Amino acid sequence: MIILGIETSCDETALALIETQETTQKNSRPEKVAPLKYRIIGSLVHSQAELHSAYGGVFPTLAKREHSKNLIPLLHKLLNESELNDIVDTNIKNPQQKTLSDKDFETKLSELTKLFAEKNPDLMATIGDAHFLKKIPKIDMIAVTEGPGLEPALWVGINFAHILSKFWNIPIVPINHMEGHIVGSLLQSDKPYGTWQELKELPLPAVALLISGGHTELVNIESGFKYSILGQTKDDAVGEAFDKVARLLELPYPGGPHVSRLAYEAREKNIATPVKLPRPMINSGDCNFSFSGLKTAVLYALKKAPTYDKVPGLVTPDDFKAGLAREFEDSVAETLDSKLRRAIDEQSAKAIIVGGGVSANRLLRERFSKTATEYGIPIFLPDHHVSGDNALMIALAAAVNNSPHTVNIHANGTKSLV
Ligand code: KG4
Ligand code: ZN
Repeated sequence: MIILGIETSCDETALALIETQETTQKNSRPEKVAPLKYRIIGSLVHSQAELHSAYGGVFPTLAKREHSKNLIPLLHKLLNESELNDIVDTNIKNPQQKTLSDKDFETKLSELTKLFAEKNPDLMATIGDAHFLKKIPKIDMIAVTEGPGLEPALWVGINFAHILSKFWNIPIVPINHMEGHIVGSLLQSDKPYGTWQELKELPLPAVALLISGGHTELVNIESGFKYSILGQTKDDAVGEAFDKVARLLELPYPGGPHVSRLAYEAREKNIATPVKLPRPMINSGDCNFSFSGLKTAVLYALKKAPTYDKVPGLVTPDDFKAGLAREFEDSVAETLDSKLRRAIDEQSAKAIIVGGGVSANRLLRERFSKTATEYGIPIFLPDHHVSGDNALMIALAAAVNNSPHTVNIHANGTKSLV
């Protein structure tokens, strides 16, 4: 089965194509099922971060306009690069069915214009000239992020999925963005495109810590890929806190990597932390988080704390900022790690997944890996180029959802997601 993934929940316009392998073997032992086999045909991500940096954060109307403008060119590129049009669909015997006639194209276009011209004029403006859509590619399913995310941005992807579904007559599967991040941590993206591979085996129950610009969640994953939320942020997401602190420290958007780099330098140079920041909700006795107060504490530190020349270990004004970034990152790491440990204990988890853009953070990766070692359980961290938003994870989540072979029960009674 070939799946097209569409992701537009925030400021990345992303499309991906994967192929999954159906197992032809009859399942004689239902408790032992074949792992999900897939290959990546292509994956493209167009980041708008530079455009949004002028606003210090994602500007929803701009994101909507950019997604609308970018989707058709990106799809054209993906189809050309993947040479999907050359993949012969043996089910279609009649070559006429592989293309839409000019008349059919115009009829569908006018129906779609009625539906979407008012809601999404920028997107519809790109469709009329997209004659490549007449050639029907061998795609069996469209997986699109339905949420959570920025409403105006999400709708562009969903509308686009509807448009393609109408032209090509293929079904749409709505995918939860956070589930995408979970599956994204299980893919082996270091293999060259086109290589058949398997999703990494995930022992269950597992705990997923999802940390992104919009979410901070601890999720329990049971057999059959069933989720329950164990805890979440009461206010700002952790990525949002990184971005806001970056702004306070006059660093560019998206701020996470910049704050992290500064904090890393501070540790390398042994720059002292000018103040002790709070570890929010660390003793709350649950798996919830709060990061808005931490950001405010950084603001107060910048306004009220003794200046750099009054703090031993600080030599320049920049040292003050670096020390503060270090302390902020330490606070985030300590808080997230303590809640992660609580979730593992509560669920007797057999594995950890970390997903979402913030999972690119070096200190956090090291800290969670140490925790996993202490518990003697595996940790699944996304490869760097799939830690941010992408459509590969969305297409794969659809494959996992749609697959009859997602849960593997081992001889020793443990289950794993494959
Ligand atoms: O998952 P993602 O790409 O988009 C959302 O779904 O929100 O996450 C983006 C967030 C941003 O807040 C960005 O600053 C943060 O991930 N981020 C980082 C790092 N790289 C990206 N935060 C801390 N350290 C990093 N290295
Ligand atoms: Zn995300």
